[in-house]
Amino acid sequence: MKKTFFIILASLFSLGMSAEKVEIHTPHNSLVLDIWKGGEPKFVYYGARLSESDLASLPNPTNANWSHLEIYPAFGATHTQSETAFAMKHVDGNMSTQLLVEDYKKTPITDKAPNGATRSGELLTITMKDPLYPNIVNLYYQTYNDVDMIECWTDITNNEKSTVTLTQFYSSVLPIRRNNVYCHHFHGSWASEAQLTAEKLNNGVLVIKNKDGARNATSDRQEVMFSLDGKGQENSGDVIGAALMYSGNYRIMVDTDDSEFHYFFAGINPDNSEYHLKKGEKFTTPHVAYTFSSEGLSGASRNYHKWARNYELRHGNKERDILLNSWEGVYFDINQKGMDQMMADIASMGGELFVMDDGWFGDKYPRKVDNSSLGDWVVDKNKLPEGIEGLLRDAKKNKVRFGIWIEPEMANTTSELYEAHPDWIIKAPGREPVLGRGGTQVVLDLSNPKVQDFVFGIVDNLLTKYPEIAYIKWDANAPVMNFGSQYLSAAEQSHLYIKYHEGLIKVCERIRAKYPDVVIQDCASGGGRANYALLPYFDEFWVSDNTDALQRIYMQWGTSYFFPAIAMASHISAVPNHAVFRTTSLKLRCDVAMSGRLGMEIQPKNMTDEEKALCRQAIADYKTIRPIVQFGDLYRLHSPYEGDNLASLMYVSENKNKAVFYWFKLETFKDEHFPCVKMAGLDPNKQYKVHELNRIDNKPLDCEGKSYSGAYLMANGLEMPYSHIVDHNKQNDWSSRVISLEAQ
Ligand code: GLA
Repeated sequence: MKKTFFIILASLFSLGMSAEKVEIHTPHNSLVLDIWKGGEPKFVYYGARLSESDLASLPNPTNANWSHLEIYPAFGATHTQSETAFAMKHVDGNMSTQLLVEDYKKTPITDKAPNGATRSGELLTITMKDPLYPNIVNLYYQTYNDVDMIECWTDITNNEKSTVTLTQFYSSVLPIRRNNVYCHHFHGSWASEAQLTAEKLNNGVLVIKNKDGARNATSDRQEVMFSLDGKGQENSGDVIGAALMYSGNYRIMVDTDDSEFHYFFAGINPDNSEYHLKKGEKFTTPHVAYTFSSEGLSGASRNYHKWARNYELRHGNKERDILLNSWEGVYFDINQKGMDQMMADIASMGGELFVMDDGWFGDKYPRKVDNSSLGDWVVDKNKLPEGIEGLLRDAKKNKVRFGIWIEPEMANTTSELYEAHPDWIIKAPGREPVLGRGGTQVVLDLSNPKVQDFVFGIVDNLLTKYPEIAYIKWDANAPVMNFGSQYLSAAEQSHLYIKYHEGLIKVCERIRAKYPDVVIQDCASGGGRANYALLPYFDEFWVSDNTDALQRIYMQWGTSYFFPAIAMASHISAVPNHAVFRTTSLKLRCDVAMSGRLGMEIQPKNMTDEEKALCRQAIADYKTIRPIVQFGDLYRLHSPYEGDNLASLMYVSENKNKAVFYWFKLETFKDEHFPCVKMAGLDPNKQYKVHELNRIDNKPLDCEGKSYSGAYLMANGLEMPYSHIVDHNKQNDWSSRVISLEAQ
């Protein structure tokens, strides 16, 4: 293979085609490609921003080692033994493709970012063509002027005389130089999302994928970070991050062959998804967002957070309300009096919003448990005789905003919707549907435009009728359980996975065009849809159905690699926890929830006055740090995954005048010893005054009210007592601290 490659390379040069190094950059990153007309575009460099002189004399890795550095290799004409990014069957049955550069151009662009903000940067378009066929494949790289993010994607236009079939269509390939590289990725399942795995890249292939069909973040996640020179450090070392921005099945692969590079591939999962592209049609792949940071894993996370808040996440620069969600408090036991009581309780603790979760709907089939009514989005008049009007009136009376739960892409076979439209559900033609949650749940077929209209209509009806609804929790609690569309033609059955997600995005776009302001939570059995394809339409996501404070420390840690705290809904709930049955202290539950978008998910009626007082204090304290948590820079300090029973992180405001430090003890033993956690991200020359938030101890910390320089705090940190000094009858085995720092 190497020999063939050398011959091709040599013959290209002998034909007199000149290679050109093309650089694109963000404030601190450069990406350099080697592009020559008539040749395949190749990778040269991705890392810290290059000076003009280094750029001018940049060595070409292709010449130094036998590495094949094509950034979009296509199968069959020359690449047959290595992994490829693209493969297709031409009209004449030929399965080989060669993508050679026709042209390239760099253009400054200012356009609307996915969340509606205006962004500026540069767009590099590399236009490629097969010498034998008229199809055009464009490879795009888009930079941002103010954040270190480069998005890459491709499109293919079929210019052949009839339909062609795409069998492989990765969005992007990035070669990464071998050098003791570690890959940080996130494994998960229901109630245990975003579990961090860090592994050294070895020879062979690492595959990370999802095949859920509907919710692609419940399992492994499509975002990965590579520490380039040894095991990743949080606040030092070179790191590349890559986030695929897709809501459907995906495939991430890192192939390490006999060359000097690891090859990162990311894109739509091609399994059972071959795509028939009609004459004249264009197929566009999802984007991959890359960043490089020389400030470690946390540095790469900060790049994603800033990009997310500014350009991806809906209302990314607007403070989030502190809310009470009814789910763990009352489950399906919804009634008007109960909702009114919960609204009054959250208002009395300082909350700003109440969200009525599942159980409020269904007429012919009222939703008593999870086995009916999805699809019938009308109020259950037995539970709520005064309807949503009554709830909105109570919200007004209690001075809180009101939100409501829906699961619009789903139905139960026990529903009026299913009775009317059995052909709207996903199932193989001729087969019985496979049934999910409650033994009756089915997934609506969003490839069908009528279903898209119906799903849009659910939100549209609610918001036209009740414009005071301030918040919607959009849930999705089933995977695609049996493959087949009753809408798509026989020839297009393999488009279902892709068309479902096109349909979902179309619906989201219609909703946001008409309702730009309403807050919408992205939930899918917990964090099943934490992804950058959907977040532009959503304000936040539910991190997990598991609200256990201890496991949340791990899950929120993993989630924070790619998603900012403002998007991470984190709720105080009851004990024993409903998912893992652990009893943690209320103080720990408050502190952990205060490190994300704080909320509550509990029946306040069952809380003691003392517990309510602690939550009231947590809410009041959170309001003082809300802008730092929600808009600040994250520094992860001590990982819970280290296995030494300690976790610590902090947020620092952009001007470094304010910070908030979190310290969580994960387990208690006698004769325990923890490091004194060094802080990060502060201004070494500023003096910071220390104040403990959410304090439960009878006496203040030694450092309370004192001032320390940023230099001291970053070199030494502050000693945290290993337990709380409280009355004997209040002692337990949990210990946590939230410390605010304010520059004098
Ligand atoms: C899913 C969600 C929960 C809750 C229930 C309601 O499991 O993740 O938060 O809304 O559905 O049925």
